[in-house]
Amino acid sequence: MSELVRLQRRDEIALIIADNPPVNALGQALRQGLLQAFQAAEADSRVRAVVLVCEGSTFFAGADIKEFGKPPVAPSLPEVIDVIEGCSKPSVAVIHGTALGGGLEVALGCHYRIARADARVGLPEVKLGLLPGAGGTQRLPRLAGVAKALEMILGGAPVEAGEACEYHIVDELFEGDLTDAGLAYARRLLQEGRGVRRSGEQTRGLEGTDNAALIAARHAEVVKRSPGLFSPLRCIAAVEAATRLPLAEGLERERELFLECLNSPQRAALVHTFFAERQAAKIADLPVDTRPREIRTAAVIGGGAMGVGIALCFANAGVPVKLLEVGDEALQRALQRARDTYATSVKRGSLSEAAMVQRLALIEGITDYAALADVDLVVEAVFEDMAVKQQVFERLDAVCKPGAILASNTSSLDLNAIAAFTRHPEDVVGLHFFSPANVMRLLEVVRGARTSHEVLASAMAIGRKLKKVAVVVGVCDGFVGNRMLFQYGREAEFLLEEGATPQQVDAALRNFGMAMGPFAVRDLAGLDIGQAIRKRQRAILPAHLEFPTVADRLCAAGMLGQKTGVGYYRYEPGNRTPLENPELAPMLAAASREKGIERRELEERYIVERTIYSLVNEGAKILEEGIAQRSSDIDLIYLNGYGFPAWRGGPMFYADSVGLDKVLATIRELHARCGEWWKPAPLLEKLAAEGRTFSGWQPDRAG
Ligand code: CAA
Repeated sequence: MSELVRLQRRDEIALIIADNPPVNALGQALRQGLLQAFQAAEADSRVRAVVLVCEGSTFFAGADIKEFGKPPVAPSLPEVIDVIEGCSKPSVAVIHGTALGGGLEVALGCHYRIARADARVGLPEVKLGLLPGAGGTQRLPRLAGVAKALEMILGGAPVEAGEACEYHIVDELFEGDLTDAGLAYARRLLQEGRGVRRSGEQTRGLEGTDNAALIAARHAEVVKRSPGLFSPLRCIAAVEAATRLPLAEGLERERELFLECLNSPQRAALVHTFFAERQAAKIADLPVDTRPREIRTAAVIGGGAMGVGIALCFANAGVPVKLLEVGDEALQRALQRARDTYATSVKRGSLSEAAMVQRLALIEGITDYAALADVDLVVEAVFEDMAVKQQVFERLDAVCKPGAILASNTSSLDLNAIAAFTRHPEDVVGLHFFSPANVMRLLEVVRGARTSHEVLASAMAIGRKLKKVAVVVGVCDGFVGNRMLFQYGREAEFLLEEGATPQQVDAALRNFGMAMGPFAVRDLAGLDIGQAIRKRQRAILPAHLEFPTVADRLCAAGMLGQKTGVGYYRYEPGNRTPLENPELAPMLAAASREKGIERRELEERYIVERTIYSLVNEGAKILEEGIAQRSSDIDLIYLNGYGFPAWRGGPMFYADSVGLDKVLATIRELHARCGEWWKPAPLLEKLAAEGRTFSGWQPDRAG
């Protein structure tokens, strides 16, 4: 038997104990061990029932994701589950922690399932670009019904044990020791004469509803909501097979569809993202014994949209937060904004009245800096101007207690200069939230030259507490996200001067998978915001670099985007649908004429390469400069803050999958034709020459 699985006999019950830390992922050795343990229990004539438990913090958390993409090694999980389900002695899965993916499928292969009351079960494969490939799409609908099965398989979110019980996924809840509960349940089965009960032979879930109609409705919804995603439609096809085929044939169909997903580039990208999120929490030079400071109370300076959004993040996480504004009127406006945001969530049904009241009670409006004396963390979210930041940080330095963490939400200013306004630059860190802060998952944690290890660890811990994807970045203009966005936005504008319309550029990038096109985004944010950044860039960048002029022309004409009803697009009052701005065409013509450009039709592929590769080239520079720790951190920033399609894995992973040699060849052509902006990043040249990838590159191994 494998070292990861132990088989013990307790009277007439075989107790199978799996132990594969940290999450009991079902890797080959564990599968082998389970297979042998069930076969041994079957062969042992003294055994009348089987109990399966896991050691550690959780039941099986699924297949071993690290094995995907490698040659399969027997026994496969479906083979193991076949043996478990086929066992002639009743078996009980004892679930604690989370039974996810292949883990829940193992449990569904057992004849009975009991779960600790705080456990959760789910089929999250869709988030990895997969479908449940070990019988989940066939067994779950038979137990829980097609509607619930589709909800769980397409949504990927786990359900609480209580709910799993209601839907016949779990038979009974228990409290206390796993083994005791499992053995007691198995003894009861034997006493009551309840024998083998195979999920695959159940039909209850498939009866009494119009399954074809349910499936058609979900199909239409997926086509509308997730265009471009590969696995959801295959999940539906697999469940559909369960409604009309006998188990064995349904399992075969599931396998075919699973393999299609497994071999798709989307699976590779989404698995990359899974590990990227876990990697991001690791900071190479942070001593392992670094302890984050405890954050019991927080404060936010500035009650604009960003400040209020940040305050909501704290309240949502149950952290009491003080919101400071300069005068009572501004404070009341800020508090009203908080109330309005929650009221909208209540109206939409995503928040209960009681939760709203609870969260609002955690937000205390203040106008006096003296009230900040006892807070553990302050986040400054005032106007993006160094003189204003200076005033704020000097005041914070004077009133805050020793050890309080002083964070700035600056999106582009020099954090080291801000830290220098205080006596404790080691307590200063950047917490760059993205708008709307209470919605967007990304948090750039900006590490200043003097930020202490403890404060950096605390900032990452706060990110986790606020349920953000926290990514460490170094200090430079725009940090990672906005520094790359500057390149992307500029190239998009150059495309307008070459001959494209905003509609064409936006459509090409939406077709690529971006959540929004760059011009729709600019109209939403307001063109005046970028204007200040463009001015600053022009002042600091070499004079020979050429800039596009369309945005400035629109600003000069007072066309600032949605807030003025016209920008790159025109908007009817109260309607956000972008319509053609008839005044733009002459502006584009003038911009092209002044630069001596003959306008031409641009191919979609060219539009995508010119914008996306500008991200990649800048990303390579960022990586080499050590502003980001690893390429997957850059990917996370674009996936969670800039609407990059999850199924492409982020710009750096995308470049890796295209092939860095090909990417470099295109960038060289652009360099020759479009000038200095396109100078290839040295790291890109090096990796392309060596046939390597960004993902495989580590700064310390760079050489
Ligand atoms: N395979 C391999 N490694 C896994 C894993 C898996 N299924 N699940 C987690 N891990 C690893 C993580 O990478 C992490 O490793 P490092 O410490 O080296 O970074 C470690 O286990 C701990 O994971 P978390 O940091 O995520 O721990 P957590 O306590 O916050 O969360 C969890 C635990 C809820 C189980 C979470 O890890 C999780 O959601 N895991 C993935 C579950 C999943 O997607 N299962 C489906 C797999 S696909 C499948 O099963 C296909 C099929 O049908 C056959």
